[in-house]
Parts: sequence; structure tokens; C-alpha cells
Amino acid sequence: MKDAAPQKIYLSDYQVPNYLVEDVHLTFRLAPESTRVLSRITFRPNPEASSKDFFLHGEDLKLISTKIDGAAVTPDLVVGGLACAVPDATFVWEAEVEISPATNTALEGLYMSNGMYCTQCEAEGFRKITYYPDRPDVMSVFTVRIESDLPVLLSNGNPVASGEGFAEWHDPWPKPAYLFALVGGELINHPDTFTTKSGKEVELNIYVRPGDEGKCAFGMEALKKSMIWDEEVYGREYDLDIFNIVAVDDFNMGAMENKGLNIFNSSCVLASAETSTDMNFERIEAIIAHEYFHNWTGNRITCRDWFQLCLKEGLTVYRDAQFTADMRSEPVKRIEDVIALRARQFREDNGPLAHPVRPDSFVEINNFYTATVYEKGAELIGMLKTLVGDAAYYKALDLYFDRHDGDAATIEDWLTVFEESTGRDLTQFKRWYEQAGTPRLAVEESYEDGTFTLTFSQSTPPTPGQDQKDPRVIPIAVGLLNPNGDEVVPTTVLEMTEATQSFRFEGLTARPTPSILRGFSAPVILERASSNAERAFLLAHDTDPFNKWEAGRALARAGLVKMILNGAAPDGAYLDAVLQVLRDDSLDPAFRALALGLPSQDDLAQTLVDQGHTPDPQAIYEALETLKMAMATHMQDVLPRIYAQYQVTEPYQPDAEQSGARSLANAALSLISRVDSGTAAQAQYDSADNMTQQLAALAALLTAGKGEQAVAAFYEQWKEDRLVIDKWFGLQISLADPANAAEVAAALTQHPDFTMKNPNRFRATLGALAMSPAGFHRADGAGYKLLADWLIQLDPLNPQTTARMCSAFETWKRYDCDRQALIAAQLDRILAQEALSRDTQEMVSRIRNA
Ligand code: BES
Ligand code: ZN
Repeated sequence: MKDAAPQKIYLSDYQVPNYLVEDVHLTFRLAPESTRVLSRITFRPNPEASSKDFFLHGEDLKLISTKIDGAAVTPDLVVGGLACAVPDATFVWEAEVEISPATNTALEGLYMSNGMYCTQCEAEGFRKITYYPDRPDVMSVFTVRIESDLPVLLSNGNPVASGEGFAEWHDPWPKPAYLFALVGGELINHPDTFTTKSGKEVELNIYVRPGDEGKCAFGMEALKKSMIWDEEVYGREYDLDIFNIVAVDDFNMGAMENKGLNIFNSSCVLASAETSTDMNFERIEAIIAHEYFHNWTGNRITCRDWFQLCLKEGLTVYRDAQFTADMRSEPVKRIEDVIALRARQFREDNGPLAHPVRPDSFVEINNFYTATVYEKGAELIGMLKTLVGDAAYYKALDLYFDRHDGDAATIEDWLTVFEESTGRDLTQFKRWYEQAGTPRLAVEESYEDGTFTLTFSQSTPPTPGQDQKDPRVIPIAVGLLNPNGDEVVPTTVLEMTEATQSFRFEGLTARPTPSILRGFSAPVILERASSNAERAFLLAHDTDPFNKWEAGRALARAGLVKMILNGAAPDGAYLDAVLQVLRDDSLDPAFRALALGLPSQDDLAQTLVDQGHTPDPQAIYEALETLKMAMATHMQDVLPRIYAQYQVTEPYQPDAEQSGARSLANAALSLISRVDSGTAAQAQYDSADNMTQQLAALAALLTAGKGEQAVAAFYEQWKEDRLVIDKWFGLQISLADPANAAEVAAALTQHPDFTMKNPNRFRATLGALAMSPAGFHRADGAGYKLLADWLIQLDPLNPQTTARMCSAFETWKRYDCDRQALIAAQLDRILAQEALSRDTQEMVSRIRNA
């Protein structure tokens, strides 16, 4: 057990930096186990600081020498860095340190991946490269020299010189150290160019490992689309001569927005029709946009401290969602995002890891790159836009960029811009940033003499460290339908500010059916008594695509709960209602595919908890299987017609139209395979010429219990392609019978291609198990034990990825005493490890103390 609890950092303790950095010169002499980093940094005392103490962050560095103004000095090496006596005036600090990229398995700082050098500095990784004030409010201009025989040597900004064995880069834009990046390797370039709207030529490059050069074209198109979009929608142009993207195989996250040198997990940039699914293409387009958009929201305007993370991440997620909605389908994107928000953020907000969008304390900042900061943070931007209106939103954004360009800003700065620009008081809105927990919104309705009244009450359950919550402002988008299904009141945004508040609609001729929270206008849980008849009516008639989908989902959920609790048969009304949607060729196929989807096992488990029951993971799984079988039989006549009708005959394109058609056809295939013993799936598998079709067919075969041959053939076909093999690992586990999912996962960890050093492979294997509730929560605890075994093994190598995966246990209090005891034992076993990382220690203890 750890001796002392690691130190907590508080937002309220913020102090300005004692010294500011004028400029930084770095020289890297690259060598796998002995890279030398020479720094020359001009420091200036900060006139606003109250202390003159000089402290530089530094971790895992071997200090060779230090000088101040050319004279050798001997600093005090302390935990987490060094302290030194310095002049009370501007001075030049020089240091030489040695680091070992080849043995850096944490993938933070400078490390090696397949012979290539690369960096990851956000949030606090720069301190593993050299001694520096590693905090985002210290911004400086960087000049970098890289010495190595490798052919490609990259850093931030513009290239200034290169020759035999070296390259020099200069970034004219002051930036915090977390945006520093360096890459060195034998890489192939996929080049292009872009002309900004003011006529500036920008060189674009995507650098990849030899062999991957055929997988760059889609990412490059996505980058150019992102650049145009940010010019057209936000009026923001790119600001350097060159924009580089590098693909790296070993990467903890999806991608990183380093100034002028974005570094991507190869799974988030490499794409080809043969190896990537439609979903992969959509994700790659979004993440390229996201990292590119950070150039303004994150880099030009950065965060004062890490408590302000949502300032850049929430806003940039919001912007990338707008982009995807514009490139593809707005309703489909919204439905996908709400599914993800509920699955990840609501789950987090409802458990031991709940925290505000802007947290006020943390132990390890890497543990706060969460669904709450990102996804709820993005929802707050969307609500603000709904409240002030589109025109006022873009006007406020212009003021934000004008006023804060070059700043390290706060949420207060952001909200002040909106207050000044719109004249609105946002005091109450700010609670959304400060209070954790998902508000519950209860609704009561009455109708009298042509007046329909909606009365809303809001309340938020306690979360760790926050018992009392004040009412928040909630934009509630509402429309009313009359009994024949026509819309009598179009979407109207009600602005709720009180704990309980009524809104009246007058002049109606009949009692209407309300469609509430259209477009999911606020991240709340709507608690409204509804009947299946009303849900079916809204599914058939609602003009708001989100609520139309939502009605179908509520109908499915209600039926499933009865099946789970009472062993009821599948609900015929639900089956009829989805059949109607499936048949309706006027509806977007992508929407219909979403409407055929069912609530997840995790969603149903939470629904049962909310209704006062203890969920049985196996019973939930079985109810879903029974319902899918009932859907397959009920729709037996229509499914083959849909399957045939939505086959794409044109050459593969990953666009919204084709992928919508494929998702509907494949949703049909998945059901058909339950009644045709896999015949159609085998035919599709044998003829597939793209990964979307091949993987859907493989999944359908596995579901039909006919996957054995295809699994072997798939491996033979793709064993040289690591990203495809990740899919192969994951699918076998997520589609395994829950009774032996843990054994399937355990066996795959013994496969020669399994390695825990690659986060993608680790997540494809252990993550797939953790995300298959019935398999993971098997009553004998085999799933818990397997995951804990591997988390214990991974922690010393890669704390970040280990800590993130601990959230698999965050819902443990939902389950029965036996399961809780089994999980508690595993959590305790993890906590008992010698030298557990701060990351994992924080996550597991927060979960354990629930
Ligand atoms: N800045 C982050 C990457 C990051 C996260 C670095 C945590 C260090 C620690 C980047 O902009 C990001 O948010 N990436 C996301 C994907 C995005 C589309 C939401 C990711 O990596 O998952
Ligand atoms: Zn981001």
C-alpha cells in the first residue's frame, strides 16, 4: 500500500508564474537510450508575481550541467524538479540533460515507436524532456535544432535550416510547452498544398511509416475541408507556412494538436476502403478537424491552467461536431453524439468519478481528460449558443478571438466575453461549469380551455464532495403536435431558470402531445410519465428527428425492462412501430439504421437501477438477444428487401450517403443472420471489397455461431495490418458468448500478436472485455480478475492507459453484493501494488471509496 496520499492541486491556489520565458532554444542530439537535450532559455522576473523563488519542473532527467549567464551553477534537485538562486533581472539559463526515449514506455515526453522518435507533452510531459516551467500560462517562442542521421526531422513552426544530420525549426507563435513536438524517423510523406482565403500558400504533409503511404489521401482531404470550414464558419485562417501531421503506432490518446505538427495515433489518421470501416472514416475526418481547430481554440488562445481544460476541449469538440454535421447529416450526428454522451458522460456523472466540467481539484491531470470535460463541456457551448442565438454566438466568438488572441485564458474570460457581447447575465449559466451531476427534469402537463401548461422541476442528485445544487438555466426546446399528428407549435426554446417553472401555450383546439427537449437541447435526464401509445405516436409523427428517434428508443427500453423483470414477451407494439420506420423509404437510411438500434446493456442496467432494481447482466444480455430474434422474425418479409435495396453498387466512397445505405443494409444483415444460419453473411463476407462490408459480415457470422472459418481467414488476410488486427482482437471478444468472453480474451492475450506495449492492442483486447457487460460481469468474477491482472501488469509501463481503463469498474455499486465484493477485492488488490502510479492510485481509490 502507498505510504502517503498523493498531493491534491486546487484551482483556488492558482498563482501567476514567478518568471516568464522570453525565448527558448533547444538542441536535441537523438540517440535511443542517451538523447542529449540542450536548452538555452531567457527568463525574466514576472512583475506581477509575489515571490522570486525559481523552480523548474523536471522528471526522469539525468542532469549533466547548468549555467546562468554563462557561469556554472549547482541547483537543488527536489521532488518533481529543481530550485536555484537566480539574478533579480533577465538572465539566460542553460542546461544539458540526458533522457532515454527507447525505454520510455509511458509514451509521455520523448519516446520511440517502431524506430521513430516522437513526443507527447500534453498535459505535463515536457518536464520529461528538459527542466522548464511546464505550465500553460508560460508561453514562449521556440527555436529547435535536431541532430540525427534520420531522414525526417520535424518540430513546430516553420523550417529554417537543414543539412547533413540536422534540421532547425522556428515557431514564431508564443506557445506553452505542452504544444511542443518533435519527430524523427524514416518516414514517407504524402504532400499537398492549401491556399488560405487571404492568399497565403501553406504546405501540407502527412508523414507515415513506409507501407502506409496509400492510406493518407482521405486524411489530407479532411484536413483541407477543415481549413476551409474554419475560414467560412468562424473566419479563422491558418497562420504558418507549413502544417504537418505524423502517424504514430504507439500513442495513448487519439491525436494531439501540437502547433504546426499534429501527432496522431495511426488508427485516427490512416484510412483505406479495404482496411477502414465507414465509422473509422467518420472518426478520422472528425479528429483531423478537431486537432486542426485547436489551432485557434487551444493554441492561439490557450488555457491559463489545467482546470480550464474545457475552455479548449469543450469548445473544440463542439466545433468538430458542427463540422461533422455540415459535412454529413446533422440529425444523425446529433443522435450519435447523444448516444455517446449518455453512455460515457451520464455514466461518469452518476458514479464515483463525477466531477464538474471545470473541476476544482485534481491529483493527476491526465485523469481529467474525461467525458465530462469533453462531451458535457461541448454541450455547454451548444446550450450557450441556443440561449443567445446563432448571430450573437458568432459575434461573441469574434470578440473572444480579438480580445484573447495570444492569451492563456479562463472560463471567466470566456463567459465575460459572452456577457459583454450579448448583455446577458451568465451567473446562473456558470453553475453548469461548477456543479457536477446530471440534472433530472420532471414534467407535468395540464390542458384546459385551449391552454396547455408544462410545469418543469429540476433537481440534481449529490455527487462526490457536492451535496447541494442550485438550479441551473436550462434551454428546453419544445414543439406540440395535435392529435392527427400535425405540428401545431413549432420548436420553441423555453428558458427555465427556477427550480420549478410553468410555461403556457394558448389558443389550442385540442390537447396536444408535447415533444420535449428537441435536439437534446440540454444534457439532462427527462423524467416524464409517458405511455407506449404516445411514444409510438411521436415515433411516427414527430418532426424533430432527434425526438423521433428518442421515442423509438424509449419504446424499446420500456419493452426490454418488462422482458428482464417479468420475463414478458417482446412488445408487439414496438415491433410494429420499428417495422413502420424500417419500411418508410422517405426516411434517411442512416436514421433508420439508428432507429433499429437497441439500448445498450449498460443503458439497461442503469435504467433498472433508476427504477429501484439490481441489474442482472446476464438477464439483460438475454433479453436483448430475445428481442433481436423477435425483430428478425417479425420483419422477416421486409429485411431481405431492405438488404437488397440498400446494396451500394457504385465504387466505394466513405461519404454520408453511401455509409448510410451500408449501415441500414448491415443492420438488416445482422438481424437476417439470426434466422438464415449465416447464409447471407457468408455471401457478403466472400464478396466484400471493403472493410465495412467485411467486418459487418464477420460480426454477423459470429452472431450466427458460424464465424470460426471466417475468423481464421480474416487473420490470414490481414495479419500484416496492425490496425485491422486490432479489429480482429476486439470483435472476437465483444461478440463472444458472455459465458466464455473472459476465456476468449485471456486466450487472445497469449496470441503472438498481443502486446501490452501498444495501447491500441491492449484496448482492443482488455477494453473489449471491459465494454461487454455480460462477459465482464460474469458472476464468478473471472472478467474482473482478468482485467485487474492486466492493469497491474500495465501500470508500471504505462500509467495513463492503465488509469483510463480503470473506469470499467466505475459502475460497480449498481450490482449485487456478491459482484460488489468480487470487484472490491480486485480494486484492493490493485491498490496494494508496490509503487502503483499516481494515475492509477487516484482512479482506483476514487472508485473504491464510492
Ligand atoms: N489535446 C487532446 C489530446 C490529449 C488528451 C493529450 C489528453 C494529452 C492528454 C486532443 O486535442 C484531443 O482532444 N484528442 C481526442 C480526440 C478528439 C476528437 C476529442 C483524443 O485523443 O481522444
Ligand atoms: Zn482536443
